[in-house]
Amino acid sequence: MNDTQKVHIPPLKIQGIKSKLVPFIRQNLARENSVTITSTTTWIEPFMGSGVVGLNLAAENAIFADLNPHIVAFYNALKTGDVTAADVALYLREQGALLASHGEEYYYHVREKFNREHSPLDFLVLNRSCFNGMIRFNKNGDFNVPYGHKPERFSKAYVTKVTNQVRHFVDMIKNRNWIFICQSFEDTIKMADERAFIYCDPPYIGRHVDYFDSWNERQERALNQCLVKSRARFMLSTWDHNKYRQNPYIDALWGACEKTTASHFYFVGAKEANRNSVTEALLTNYLAG
Ligand SMILES: C[S@@+](CC[C@H](N)C(=O)[O-])C[C@H]1O[C@@H](n2cnc3c(N)ncnc32)[C@H](O)[C@@H]1O
Repeated sequence: MNDTQKVHIPPLKIQGIKSKLVPFIRQNLARENSVTITSTTTWIEPFMGSGVVGLNLAAENAIFADLNPHIVAFYNALKTGDVTAADVALYLREQGALLASHGEEYYYHVREKFNREHSPLDFLVLNRSCFNGMIRFNKNGDFNVPYGHKPERFSKAYVTKVTNQVRHFVDMIKNRNWIFICQSFEDTIKMADERAFIYCDPPYIGRHVDYFDSWNERQERALNQCLVKSRARFMLSTWDHNKYRQNPYIDALWGACEKTTASHFYFVGAKEANRNSVTEALLTNYLAG
């Protein structure tokens, strides 16, 4: 596998992360008669989450946005150099030692501190030591995911892995014109002109309960209207079907789009019974192949 086919994993974890879908999206973009992302294209990602898709596929120019201010602040801190790979290595080593000696009690101390001060480094520590690497905020905007019960989490190898993920991201950003903004998708899609390519990965309806990350039919319809009005090419990630049902919105709202599907597993829950096999769909407003 050469470096252009490798999937680079970003430093933040998030539920619904599309790492496994990157090769499928890459393939879809590369299909004959399909889309070329050139140096004049602006990659626009209104729901960046962990950033894994854009980090692997975006061109020189990109706008990454998300409603979650902590995700955006984290990536901006890497961009400006307020947080470096060396800072991450040092902080994770130090916090890892405290977590190993004080366990749960220390985790909740960091969580309280983060909810007061909003430090990007604490956000990373929580993201990597909380239950299942989830990102969830309550209605006051406070991070409320419980402890992951892995006091030895920040082993030397693990700290090196996360530091390398940060380093790769920082290296990418240095040579590119990438901006990170905290705003809702309507404002991000408005920024697209006809040379833009919009990749949308909204939350799935009814799937999460989170202050920054909930989704309902009204929002799905609003997204549809924004994308239909836009002059840009777009690609939307959604689910096509699972064992029990078809996604009803594909026909109801996205019927005019070209659809391609792929299967993969989501590992959201720790238990086998929670692992739902979902067939993913990519919906586009241009002809793929
Ligand atoms: C499914 S996740 C994106 C995952 C991402 N593609 C990845 O692979 O990591 C959806 C993201 O949309 C964000 N979000 C939810 N509602 C939003 C809105 N109205 N406008 C912008 N972002 C929103 C959430 O904070 C979350 O990060």
